[in-house]
Amino acid sequence: MEFILVKKDHAPHIALIQLNRPKELNALNLQLMGELRDALKEIDEDDDIRAIIITGNERAFAAGADIKQMAGKTTIDMWKVDQFSTWDQINKTRKPIIAAVSGFALGGGCELAMTCDMIVASETAQFGQPEIKIGVMPGAGGTQRLTKALGKAKAMELVLTGKFIDADTALSYGLINKIVPVELYLEEATKLASEIASMSPIATQMAKEAVKRSFEVPLEEGLHFERKNFYMLFSSEDQKEGMNAFVEKRKPDFKGS
Ligand code: HXC
Repeated sequence: MEFILVKKDHAPHIALIQLNRPKELNALNLQLMGELRDALKEIDEDDDIRAIIITGNERAFAAGADIKQMAGKTTIDMWKVDQFSTWDQINKTRKPIIAAVSGFALGGGCELAMTCDMIVASETAQFGQPEIKIGVMPGAGGTQRLTKALGKAKAMELVLTGKFIDADTALSYGLINKIVPVELYLEEATKLASEIASMSPIATQMAKEAVKRSFEVPLEEGLHFERKNFYMLFSSEDQKEGMNAFVEKRKPDFKGS
């Protein structure tokens, strides 16, 4: 891996993926995205890992897709490359993903953070969809996920003006989960990931699947899906362990089976 660093044992049951093109503010070129897709697939198949953190560095989570790589491309070049199939794969990751964001999360960087399940931000984080300023528009989910998170008026403003919002604004808009001092953002994301990793991994993955389904389908269908996953969990050993532990007034020890 040239443009990402992967630590599968960042903390018990937690993998860390760090975007690693610091000089280019972690601009998301095709190779980086391919590496990210491959790493997530491998981690998703690793039974020992229960939660994932994606981060950048203090200055930038990611300043967007690599403009220099895209600048000379034609429609057909873009179509042939089919970069969004990579994004689609990333979006299919079953395990919970937390974005630990400091500095710039712009364009594709903001879209990548929004593709994750939760966002822990440092107080220096800045979010935005500035594609409009370079003559295009968001392409990796920005117009959809931002609108679902913020509502039409605010999403329109960000997408049509390209302006950035700071961490406080992002929190008040409901885009992110929490803000912490810059020296603590990774630690805080790790704490959140550890809390999730202490639960049954089968239940967390089925619950994630159901929450995500709410974005895709009408309420009745979503409720039906939720119910199906709920029933399915009763064939896991973790369900027995969780409920027995409650009755016996002890901490559950979830095995992921
Ligand atoms: C390629 C980038 C880049 C990007 C920064 N760099 N963002 N290279 N693609 N998206 C490079 C700069 O060219 C520069 O390289 C180095 O990183 C440092 O950036 P500076 O601009 O010198 O830093 P600063 O003045 O602090 O400004 C930071 C910034 C600015 C505000 C984040 O870099 C910026 O506006 N970047 C572009 C943001 C953007 O438009 N993102 C959306 C991209 S389109 P050199 O070699 O000059 O030192 C997109 C579409 C997604 O994301 C579609 C789905 C995939």
